[in-house]
Amino acid sequence: MVFHAYDEGIPCLVTMTYSDKDSMDDLNLPTVIPVDENYGRFSVLEEEDRDASSAYSMASSAYNFRMENGRRYHDYKDGHPFPHDEVSEENEITMHEMCLLIFEDKYFLSPVDESNLRAVADIGTGRGYWAEGVADRFPDAQVVGMDLTPHARNILPNCSFMLADATEDWVLDDPSMKFDLVHIRSLFGGVRDWAALYKNCFDNMRSGGWIEQLEIEIDAQTQDASTPPDSHIKALCEYTRSHLSVAAGRDFDISFSMKQMIEDAGFVDVQEKRINIPLGPWSSDSRMKDIGRFYERFYKTGLQGWLLQVCTRQLNWSVDQVNAACVSAFKEINQRQQHWYYPLVIVIGRKP
Ligand SMILES: C[S@@+](CC[C@H](N)C(=O)[O-])C[C@H]1O[C@@H](n2cnc3c(N)ncnc32)[C@H](O)[C@@H]1O
Repeated sequence: MVFHAYDEGIPCLVTMTYSDKDSMDDLNLPTVIPVDENYGRFSVLEEEDRDASSAYSMASSAYNFRMENGRRYHDYKDGHPFPHDEVSEENEITMHEMCLLIFEDKYFLSPVDESNLRAVADIGTGRGYWAEGVADRFPDAQVVGMDLTPHARNILPNCSFMLADATEDWVLDDPSMKFDLVHIRSLFGGVRDWAALYKNCFDNMRSGGWIEQLEIEIDAQTQDASTPPDSHIKALCEYTRSHLSVAAGRDFDISFSMKQMIEDAGFVDVQEKRINIPLGPWSSDSRMKDIGRFYERFYKTGLQGWLLQVCTRQLNWSVDQVNAACVSAFKEINQRQQHWYYPLVIVIGRKP
């Protein structure tokens, strides 16, 4: 099996044969998410569920020191449409912890030769949770986190952070560095030119290195009859996909096209995996229930920031309209009657 080939003593990735039976299929998660029949009975609602629903009010009160409509943004290059503040920090760490739970504490699914992992890049690293985690776990690897936002700290000797636009030429401290693994997570709605970004990844990787990208697909779905016809959650997904990409000049739909674009950039053995992530703790499966809690928190700490700048600057919404849309969606979650899930799409590919 290609993803386990290094376990079987094959030293060089280039020599591995490709098979579609691999660790991408081996996460021990149910394909159809089982429903907890107690979900939605308020007598059994857990404290943590109540707490999760307060994330929006935290966004508008406790974190009250931001520069545009109550949120703080950075303006490096042509800026970024999403805030960079304490709420977005909570959003990032929630995504990071959720991914560790989904992937059973693995930082990547690509079949890299871990014993020979020397150079790793994390593109759009944000606060660098993933980059620091990999640097900690692989002390012989040099990890570079690249982002449009400056990084506040540098605590591990083998982890550095680079202030750069990943769609422009990469000027690395060590120009001879070629990456064994390039990781991209949660950049939907942030990048103007994906083809340029994938080309830079390709050009800066060594032959046999792997690219890995994870994106939430903005497409709320239910697997049963729990979808209300007038759902705000669903309507916001549809509005985002029909209006926000064009208005922002950045692709909110990258999950749909990244596999093809990664192939177009020259990568081979490109594989896609889709995992359904419950929105809220509605599953009877205990791991899925926890994943659902994390995803609810990710949604509640993210939604206002994903909408606010683009809707108010380009689409003529008022701040109150944005906040009302968020509150309507959160109320729908808090009613605990629906079994929404969103696909998390993972694509991996190898540089030949
Ligand atoms: C939602 S955060 C994701 C952070 C991190 N990847 C994670 O999963 O925790 C998206 C980050 O991508 C960065 N970003 C967006 N476009 C970028 C670009 N062209 N070059 C570098 N970073 C970019 C943003 O500044 C932001 O910090």
